[in-house]
Amino acid sequence: MPAKIEALLTNMLKVDPSSPIFYTSESGTRPDWRNRGLASIAIGSIVRAQPNLPIVLRTNFNGPSLYGIATKLGFAQVYGKIRGSNEQVVNFLDEINPERVLFVKYLKSLV
Ligand SMILES: CC(C)(COP(=O)(O)OP(=O)(O)OC[C@H]1O[C@@H](n2cnc3c(N)ncnc32)[C@H](O)[C@@H]1OP(=O)(O)O)[C@@H](O)C(=O)NCCC(=O)NCCS
Repeated sequence: MPAKIEALLTNMLKVDPSSPIFYTSESGTRPDWRNRGLASIAIGSIVRAQPNLPIVLRTNFNGPSLYGIATKLGFAQVYGKIRGSNEQVVNFLDEINPERVLFVKYLKSLV
């Protein structure tokens, strides 16, 4: 993980950077089964199953991504463009893909 992202996560979560996290990315629902709440249920079950680990979720800003689901489930945005804003950004844009956004949720902290 790039140092500046690790520093942000450490700062937000107040945890030792060498401690484990649960990382999720590249989720998908078959096109003919989308918009029925399946991804919301899947990500929600990950959150409930990991009460002791920070969950880091990577998705895209645009399109049918997990952005809305992460927000709905109470994830905090770590970096990237803010949906519904006028080009506002949390912290910085991803250097490899500016459409990429990162979220974190940690049940044990105030995040
Ligand atoms: C993202 C994805 C996994 C969501 O799966 P799903 O089972 O349809 O998810 P849900 O039914 O739980 O929720 C869909 C949400 O996406 C929103 N959505 C659907 N199409 C959208 C679009 N074109 N743009 C923005 N949001 C969209 C819906 O409004 C819904 O949000 P809501 O619950 O706040 O109304 C699915 O669209 C998918 O497989 N996309 C292609 C792969 C991908 O881009 N994955 C994310 C990158 S990791």
